[in-house]
Amino acid sequence: MLGVTGSIAVYKAADLTSRLVKAGYIVDVVMTEAAQEFVQPLTFQALTHRPVVTEMFNLHSEMAVEHIALAERADVLLIAPATANIIAKLRYGFADDMLSCTALATRAPIVIAPAMNNGMYENPVTQENIAVLKERGVTFVGPGEGYLACGTVGRGRLTEIMDIFDAVKIALGRKGDLMGKRIVVTAGGTEEPIDPVRCITNRSSGKMGYALAEAARDRGAEVHLIAGPGSLRTPYGVRFTAVRTANDMFAAVQAATRDCHAVLMAAAVSDYRVAEVAKQKIKKSASSLSLELAKNPDILASLTGDFIKIGFAAESQDLLANAQMKLQAKGLHMIVANDISRAGSGFGGDTNEATLLFPDGRREALPLMTKERLAHIILDRTTDLY
Ligand SMILES: Cc1cc2nc3c(=O)[nH]c(=O)nc-3n(C[C@H](O)[C@H](O)[C@H](O)COP(=O)(O)O)c2cc1C
Repeated sequence: MLGVTGSIAVYKAADLTSRLVKAGYIVDVVMTEAAQEFVQPLTFQALTHRPVVTEMFNLHSEMAVEHIALAERADVLLIAPATANIIAKLRYGFADDMLSCTALATRAPIVIAPAMNNGMYENPVTQENIAVLKERGVTFVGPGEGYLACGTVGRGRLTEIMDIFDAVKIALGRKGDLMGKRIVVTAGGTEEPIDPVRCITNRSSGKMGYALAEAARDRGAEVHLIAGPGSLRTPYGVRFTAVRTANDMFAAVQAATRDCHAVLMAAAVSDYRVAEVAKQKIKKSASSLSLELAKNPDILASLTGDFIKIGFAAESQDLLANAQMKLQAKGLHMIVANDISRAGSGFGGDTNEATLLFPDGRREALPLMTKERLAHIILDRTTDLY
């Protein structure tokens, strides 16, 4: 259920609604009277394909006692944007309109995305209201900092839509099958410097690792994502460590796995680094240039501990034989093998076609699917391993 209140940021709630609907959520929108001064209910009705609730005393409602029916039906109540007014009302238990009544009646998790002028937000009254609601288990996402509609710059603007979306998924995942599990995920390629301007890297986009991190988070896990340089959005609600070289990643993974239940190593880590990094930019003078490479540590093989180790093998030939060797050599519980030479599989894209290999010789060939779907299957198998 999405509660929309009378903030200038209401227009962003339309984008959020559209994304939720596209992702398959059934969204019931409740608008306060003030919200309707900014945007017509028709906008949300058209986006959700469902009636929008705008009044408390509606003789034509199909539901006997609408606010109770809505409260019981909701899996999560998101209020975005949330005014200072609705936050104050929720803190004190006011129930003078449909949204506040429903919020009082529901047992679903409540997620609030505040949006207001920085003076209103920083006011000790608002801060106290937020602190009390947080203590009661209400989740707050944002607000962000930056330019505000009133013309000032400060804290109070509605946070990024995708962060709100993620906060909803986290609230829904509270009873997920990975609840209580701490999972380390690595993603992306590494960068090995040659000189101050050049590096050796690879074509990994990080999409598979990021999809795994998000999927594990959405199933209730506490996720630590360790990722090489890339352009992907840092997922909301996961612990994030940015690394550059294979050695950085080695150190970060060693530290993160001291206290974890599983590690999923989706990163494409450079096997070699330049033995001696030039302090100054190498000039174009000689007709050829040789670089001596030194071997990097093998992160997965070096990890010991009472946790599940899952590796990835991206190969361009002899896929299954190479993956099988890696599975044994590194003492893995499972390896995800994918043939990067096949269309739609491997680096950069949104899809992958993989085979899962297990130490007992079992193999599971999966069809081409989105990395998001594959991430969930990998996590299904990880929970089986527990
Ligand atoms: C142009 C305009 C923009 C407003 N923007 C906000 C806002 O971003 N956040 C906020 O808390 N109140 C804002 N208000 C004030 C609320 O609309 C007002 O407090 C209202 O009573 C909120 O009612 P509701 O919480 O039931 O939606 C704005 C008012 C106007 C006229």
